[in-house]
Amino acid sequence: MKAGVQRPQVYTFLEMMNDLGLRLTYPEVRFESRYSEIMPSDAELDTKFSERVALRVPIVSAAMDTVTEADMAIALAEYGGIGVIHRGLTPKAQASAVDRVKHRQNGLIENPITVPETWSVTQLQSLRREKGYLFHRFPVLDGAGKLVGLVTRKDLDVCEDEHVSVSKIMTVAEDLETAPKGIGKREAYERMRNCKRESLPLINKDGTLAGLYLFEDLKRILLGHSTANVDSNDQLRVAAAVGTSEAEMERVALLLEKKCDVIVIDTAHGHTQSMRLMIEAIRREFGDVEIVAGNVSDPEAAVALANWGANGIKVGQGPGSICTTRVVAGIGVPQVSAVGNCARALREAGFERIPVIADGGMENSGDLVIALSFGASCGMFGGMLAGTDEAPGEIVYDPELKQVKKYRGMGSLSAMRDSRAARERYGQQDRAVQKLVAEGVEARVPYKGKVTLVLDKLSGGLRQGMGYLGARTIGELLHQARPFRVSPVGMRESGVHGVQAVAE
Ligand code: IMP
Repeated sequence: MKAGVQRPQVYTFLEMMNDLGLRLTYPEVRFESRYSEIMPSDAELDTKFSERVALRVPIVSAAMDTVTEADMAIALAEYGGIGVIHRGLTPKAQASAVDRVKHRQNGLIENPITVPETWSVTQLQSLRREKGYLFHRFPVLDGAGKLVGLVTRKDLDVCEDEHVSVSKIMTVAEDLETAPKGIGKREAYERMRNCKRESLPLINKDGTLAGLYLFEDLKRILLGHSTANVDSNDQLRVAAAVGTSEAEMERVALLLEKKCDVIVIDTAHGHTQSMRLMIEAIRREFGDVEIVAGNVSDPEAAVALANWGANGIKVGQGPGSICTTRVVAGIGVPQVSAVGNCARALREAGFERIPVIADGGMENSGDLVIALSFGASCGMFGGMLAGTDEAPGEIVYDPELKQVKKYRGMGSLSAMRDSRAARERYGQQDRAVQKLVAEGVEARVPYKGKVTLVLDKLSGGLRQGMGYLGARTIGELLHQARPFRVSPVGMRESGVHGVQAVAE
């Protein structure tokens, strides 16, 4: 039977469970394997984060202050996913993190950061520190905006006296290879290759700077087998979280100014009047920008967000590893049912173009296979990505776990004490500190090294699952999966049992 012809068995299963008043979560659900002509390496992992923002792997990093700032977002986008920069940062700092991601790799840099020829090297270095620029290449302009030279890493490395003017250490314009405005990527690349230059400034007819190409970037874009998730200008894609208060419009403006690809309206309860007003306000002020909204966990709420104009819907209330919402407030639907019911309701209401993001509660790659098979387009991860090099925070020594990093819920007492945004996420912005009600804990997770190690395991496990299910694409998973509920003894059998494992 060709994929898509029959009603997905997942839907029948969900209905059966719903009728019994049961809602299920990851360890309770598994699939039969299917006849397959798909090898894990054949599986295609392309999917969507929001209506018009694609992903090359279905992995998103959570908008949490111990998970996603610029380093994590860069790593995720380079891998093919996307990171959501958290909103515990000030609007300016969050926008500058977005800027860092966007400038990590460029096709044509239309507005390169330049310095005036009157500046000293000290001034340039303080600008780099202040803005967190990781690059070292700065075109130098005269008062009329004309290119007079270029400062590179080498110039800065060999400079012993930072009080001198940048014009003393730069390569002067006459010795640079330049090209007229309008030259394409391929031609620019060949030119730099032929004359062994690392960059190519573009010049307008009047001598002013029109842009800059970088050899390494063009090489990666034109020749590499890059899996990076990039926009139409070959820059990495990035998302950022905002709240629902009126003051947050300034944050949205700053983020969009820095070319943030997706605005994620991030609240613990997304089916609210303030969410509707925020979506409407963003549409009114900024038009057709990509908005992901959440979180919700029931079909009525998911369809409401779609009707209000969200381009992607984040599902998950209470499944997070650090989350205590279910204990504290008695609220939230076990995650597999939440994802499945929301995705199905959206499809049945004619919103199949709007992706569901399964947010929280996944502890291994099998959980991602389950979320996607129940209709999610991608998964958002906090705990699994925390503890990596790219997550914010220091590695500390713990006598039991050895090296650990902090991972805390945005609704933990410490996060709410530190940040108004965290209080606002849980609707407690007006509460005195001693009256805050925590909906999350502060935790530590083992140090895990580079995040690509975790991402390889997640995407590798997903490929295995797609091979077992005979699904070539993420979309086919929904049609191939034959789910069943696992009994408690079945769950025991699913894990390692009766032995003491000594290695993975
Ligand atoms: P994890 O991947 O299971 O660790 O879950 C991460 C997700 O938990 C995040 O993306 C948020 O949606 C959610 N979350 C973050 N902080 C809290 C909290 O303090 N309480 C409840 N949920 C939280």
